[in-house]
Amino acid sequence: MIGVDYIFANDCRHYFKLFGFCTLIQNVEIQRETCAVFFARRKTEENDILPMIRSPRAAASSRSCSDRPESLSEDFRHSLRRFGNGVTIVATVDRQGQPRGLMMTAVMSLCMEPPSMLIAVNRAASALPFLLERGRFSINIIGAGEEEECARFARADAETRFVNHDWDCGTDNIPRYRRAAATIICDIDDARPFGSHMVIQGLVRESYYAKEIGGLVYLDGRFFNVKAGG
Ligand SMILES: Cc1cc2nc3c(=O)[nH]c(=O)nc-3n(C[C@H](O)[C@H](O)[C@H](O)COP(=O)(O)O)c2cc1C
Repeated sequence: MIGVDYIFANDCRHYFKLFGFCTLIQNVEIQRETCAVFFARRKTEENDILPMIRSPRAAASSRSCSDRPESLSEDFRHSLRRFGNGVTIVATVDRQGQPRGLMMTAVMSLCMEPPSMLIAVNRAASALPFLLERGRFSINIIGAGEEEECARFARADAETRFVNHDWDCGTDNIPRYRRAAATIICDIDDARPFGSHMVIQGLVRESYYAKEIGGLVYLDGRFFNVKAGG
C-alpha cells in the first residue's frame, strides 16, 4: 500500500492542489480507497491492460475524420462545452523579442517526476512556430476577476495581445503575466503532431504562484470566477 499512497499523493493531490481545488476534496477517504484499488489493480494487470489500450488508439489515430459519422463531432463539441477548464495564456518570444502566445485550455500537469506539463496547440496557431523555435514558454494560469482581460486577449490579433503593461520578462525574455494565479516556465522536451494539434511536453524550469487562491474556468463558452472556500 505504500506504493499506492505514493502514487495517490503525487498524482491526485498534486493535481488538485495545483488547480486550487483542495477544498473540494476535503473528505478524501472514499476517493483514497477507490484510487488505491484502481492503482493496485493497474500494477498487477499492467501487462494485460496496456496492449488493449494501445491497439484501439493506434487504429483511431490512423482513421480519417471523414469516416466518422457527422453527428459525432457535433456531439463531441457539445460534450466538451460541459467540461469546465482552467484558463491559461501560453507565451513565448520571437527572434525580434516580441511576445507571442495564445489563450489555452488544453493544458495539464503531466507528472511530478520529472515536473512536467502537457499542452496541445492547434497547428494553425500563429504562435506555434515561435514556441517550437524558442523551445521555452510560460504557462500563465489565469486567476479570478480576469474575465474582461481574457475576453480582450482572446479577441485581439496576434500583434496586439500583449499591449497591456502587465507582462514581465525574465532574463530569458519569456513573458510572465504579473496578475497570473501561477506561472510555470517550461522547456520543450517533446512535440508530436496529433490530428489538427501539436502535443507539446514541457519540462518545468520555474514555477511560482500568487498568495490568493482563485481561478477562471471556461465552461459552455463563458468565463466563470472560482474562489476557494467561497
Ligand atoms: C477559452 C479559449 C481556450 C482556447 N484553448 C486553446 C487550446 O487549448 N489550444 C489551442 O491551440 N487554441 C486554443 N484556443 C484558441 C487560441 O487561443 C487562438 O485563438 C487561436 O490559436 C488563433 O490564434 P492566432 O490568431 O494567433 O492564430 C482557445 C481559445 C479560447 C477563447
